[in-house]
Amino acid sequence: MGVLMITGASRGIGAATARLAVDQGYRVVLLARDAEALSGLVEELGAGSAAALPCDVTDYASLTEAVATTEQRFGSVDAVLANAGMSVPTSFLGSGGAEPEQWRDMVLTNVYGAAITARAALPALVRSRGHLVLTGSNAGRGIRPGNLYSATKWAVTGMAQNIRAECVGTGVRVTLVQPGMVETDMTADRTDVPKLRAEDIARGVLYALSQPETVDVNELTIRPVGQAPQS
Ligand SMILES: NC(=O)c1ccc[n+]([C@@H]2O[C@H](COP(=O)([O-])OP(=O)(O)OC[C@H]3O[C@@H](n4cnc5c(N)ncnc54)[C@H](OP(=O)(O)O)[C@@H]3O)[C@@H](O)[C@H]2O)c1
Repeated sequence: MGVLMITGASRGIGAATARLAVDQGYRVVLLARDAEALSGLVEELGAGSAAALPCDVTDYASLTEAVATTEQRFGSVDAVLANAGMSVPTSFLGSGGAEPEQWRDMVLTNVYGAAITARAALPALVRSRGHLVLTGSNAGRGIRPGNLYSATKWAVTGMAQNIRAECVGTGVRVTLVQPGMVETDMTADRTDVPKLRAEDIARGVLYALSQPETVDVNELTIRPVGQAPQS
């Protein structure tokens, strides 16, 4: 099955994917900033199946070190889920939502973080002829008035395509997963809409990973039944 590295593994979609991947025989390497939450998940999954490497995805040195440590400890990096992300409400027109100073962390995490996760991991993925999965969003393919989060996910949509194009000839597969609304800490304030469970996205990730190595699932959009097109 191999070794799957997951960023944003301390809770939500990343943690759910770690649980399902271990169920299916993967060893998982868990990255996020919350070391305590990661240790708890390692304890739950078993130290033989999971390891925690606390790190901030906006720090390239930490990411390259995590990849090197994983290769040394586990022999290879066979798949990476670049999943860490955050969201703050924004408005370009008015003064609603978060102050612009707070927008910086979101852009750095969602765009720069995903980009340097790819950059740090791809040499190892080329060695393993492995698989890069990026968590984009359904918000990364539609218009959301005033919403910079959506624009960061448009960037991930483009990034996945550009990475896949650059990887032609390497054997590396690149999958973009675009969830609709999912019940996690990120959407706790959205009580007005139908939501998926994090496990529903995990199954999509494992579906892409479980294909023959000649099959590259490019994009998976997974939305709850009844979610309005632009919500
Ligand atoms: N929930 C939804 O409806 C939805 C829909 C579409 C897409 N998504 C995307 O799905 C991904 C996972 O989100 P989620 O819904 O599972 O939210 P979540 O429960 O809030 O989890 C976010 C994860 O990202 C990690 N993270 C955030 N900033 C980080 C940083 N600088 N360095 C390392 N890790 C960082 C967090 O860990 P630490 O805080 O411990 O660092 C946490 O593990 C995100 O990319 C999100 O944009 C979510």
